[in-house]
Amino acid sequence: MSDSVTGEHDLLELMREAGDLPGHVALIMDGNGRWAGERGLPRWMGHREGMKSVRRCVEASLEAGLKHLTLYAFSRENWDRPAEEVEALMSLLVEYVERESEDLLLNGVKVRAFGDLDRLTDKARQSVQVLEATTAPGDKLQLNLAISYGSRDEILRAVRRLAEQVSRGEIMPADVDAARFEQQLYTAGWPDPDLLIRTSGELRVSNFLLWQIAYAELYVTPVLWPDFGRRELFEAILEYQRRERRFGRVSA
Ligand code: IPE
Ligand code: IPE
Ligand code: MG
Repeated sequence: MSDSVTGEHDLLELMREAGDLPGHVALIMDGNGRWAGERGLPRWMGHREGMKSVRRCVEASLEAGLKHLTLYAFSRENWDRPAEEVEALMSLLVEYVERESEDLLLNGVKVRAFGDLDRLTDKARQSVQVLEATTAPGDKLQLNLAISYGSRDEILRAVRRLAEQVSRGEIMPADVDAARFEQQLYTAGWPDPDLLIRTSGELRVSNFLLWQIAYAELYVTPVLWPDFGRRELFEAILEYQRRERRFGRVSA
């Protein structure tokens, strides 16, 4: 126990010495089902365990001083999972809000949920809305939860909105630039992710923030989401700090 605590403390020190932190970390929380399967447990128990990782990650993000943490909680495609599992995930969302809202508020975490929230059950949608309202004053860390989210839908929604502005004569087609487009995304006003982490070893982005991750550093760990915590987050950040981001240019 003390060894691992010392180790984690060292990681925090190393990170602070290593230079700039990623301002925005995005995370594809994957592997709950496999975690449960390995233990002969039903999938929902993996999701429940994954909720603890969310808490650990938020705490570690606060400790590290991250400003934005974006978690992929539920994709648009996840609606096609068995109804039982979808229901379990919706209940866990409500449970997460009930359990965590006070601590999130006390710790200065502002929560924003984004995605096609109209598809949520009334109960889940209301609890997310209350959480957003309650935590609105938070100014330490912004925690963005992608729920019922699909990046292609987000992009199409933005395109439709711009097309409407053009058809109303408010803007000209030539006025459509990156800045105007980004204003129509759910993520309007947020910085792009600097670091995208995916757990469970899958080498894909699964319709997550396709526009926004154009120049994010990618980090994939074989660790399953329920086993992910402070140490794993800090290791990912340290790896990010070792990378050279070139944005298409040449080294200095
Ligand atoms: C991630 O874990 C949680 C959600 C997608 C909601 P999975 O449920 O995808 O777990 P695996 O990938 O089947 O192990
Ligand atoms: C991505 O994980 C969605 C979330 C983490 C919420 P999935 O498990 O749904 O993605 P695929 O099916 O492996 O691409
Ligand atoms: Mg998965």
